[in-house]
Amino acid sequence: MSSVRSKLPTADPATVGALLAAHGDAGWLAVTQRYGRVFRYRGGVVTCEPDELQALLSTREHTRRRPATHRFADRFVPGAAGILFKEGDAWKQRLRPLMMGFQPQAVEAEEARLRDLVERYVGQWPATHTGPDLFAEVTALGLKIALVHGYNLDPSDPVVQDFGAVLVSYKRATMDPNPRRRLDEFGLRWRKAFDLPWVAAAFYDFHRHVRRLDGLVAELRRRGPWADPVRQGWIQTLAAAGLRGRALTSELNHLYGAFTAADYTATCALAELAHAPQWVARLRRADASQSGIDAVEAVLRETSRRYPVAMVIYRELGKAMTLGGESFPAGTLAMALPYALHHDPAWWDRPAVYDPGRWQGELPPRALAAYEPFLKGPRRCIGQDFARQQLRVVLEAILRRYDPHLGARPQVNTFIVPRLAEPLAFRFEPARVSNPS
Ligand code: HEM
Repeated sequence: MSSVRSKLPTADPATVGALLAAHGDAGWLAVTQRYGRVFRYRGGVVTCEPDELQALLSTREHTRRRPATHRFADRFVPGAAGILFKEGDAWKQRLRPLMMGFQPQAVEAEEARLRDLVERYVGQWPATHTGPDLFAEVTALGLKIALVHGYNLDPSDPVVQDFGAVLVSYKRATMDPNPRRRLDEFGLRWRKAFDLPWVAAAFYDFHRHVRRLDGLVAELRRRGPWADPVRQGWIQTLAAAGLRGRALTSELNHLYGAFTAADYTATCALAELAHAPQWVARLRRADASQSGIDAVEAVLRETSRRYPVAMVIYRELGKAMTLGGESFPAGTLAMALPYALHHDPAWWDRPAVYDPGRWQGELPPRALAAYEPFLKGPRRCIGQDFARQQLRVVLEAILRRYDPHLGARPQVNTFIVPRLAEPLAFRFEPARVSNPS
């Protein structure tokens, strides 16, 4: 049999970079409109076909090895090593203890305490609350939640406060908007080599943060102070699973990085709701549709559709797989683009419009197969229940008291891990329609 030449197009990184630069986050969809839903890219293959995505995520063989990008980050980026980048025994060593705290029953058992923390925090804001940066405001509340409900630490302790400040500062350094300091650019080209001094400076900065964290983690391990003397948090369970020294520090830092996906989502939800007062009112009345999806749930689903927390999903094929009609061997880097999937007009009506109502009605066929905010399969988000509970509690607490006002709609940058392109100045005014409950 004669070999068949590839019919799939090969995307050029320079063109991909130019599309992202020209269209912002909509550039992720523009890439698939230019090259099709399946195309070759940088020695790998990208698929935005829903059925292929589903098979990629749920076939165990494709989740055994982490792709080279993850292995690189795990090995070389100071402070980055952690569960998301791990495979094999190192992954299981972390997964088992963490899963205990992320089980639905464990998350539910914490709900009253979480609600109390958030209500007290938001309750201290002034009647009209303003600030220059909504994401920074949400992150400050998120940090408190992470310290108490994730790390099980007492946030009034000065060492815990230092620990929290360094976690936030590290994360902010990794999200530096200067592309020369970033490696998470999809349109990365050989010219990136000229940025090496900036990348090295960024790595040195990360290294300084991690050294500071090493000392703080050692002290916290010794003495706590634990927020709840009965419950075990991330520090205790990971130490009990055998993590020590830098491996423990990096994992704790890595978890905070994963956690901040919830801060980003809450910020995007509030920013959109500032332009959708009818949804703020529905949320306050806890409106539910016949589908049983209440207003908060509809808002959460729509925010995760419109604002994915990662713009590229990477997998390494564990066995041959047919994508776009061509067979790719084991070891191929396979990628999917959540933004393109979540905005493909073939699966979604008016995809660019932020409309929580779409979740309370009937979705077009195939939309759900193209919707994967937390992924499925063995390498799905293990913090999903925790994140969803937190988002619900935070949005309810803020919107019961305030009407959010923001100048502009959120603009998102085009890195693989996206953030808002500019700080969003906000004004929370006393709620005009009060909660009947
Ligand atoms: C709206 C909020 C969140 C979203 C949309 C989200 C989404 C995701 C996604 C898509 C992945 C898979 C990444 C990949 O394989 O490439 C992931 C992994 C993960 N997430 Fe989340 N996440 C959120 C919040 C959280 C929170 C609050 C935590 C708590 C620490 C968390 C912990 C994790 C962990 C530990 C992993 C790695 C799991 C593994 O590799 O086995 N996430 N998340």
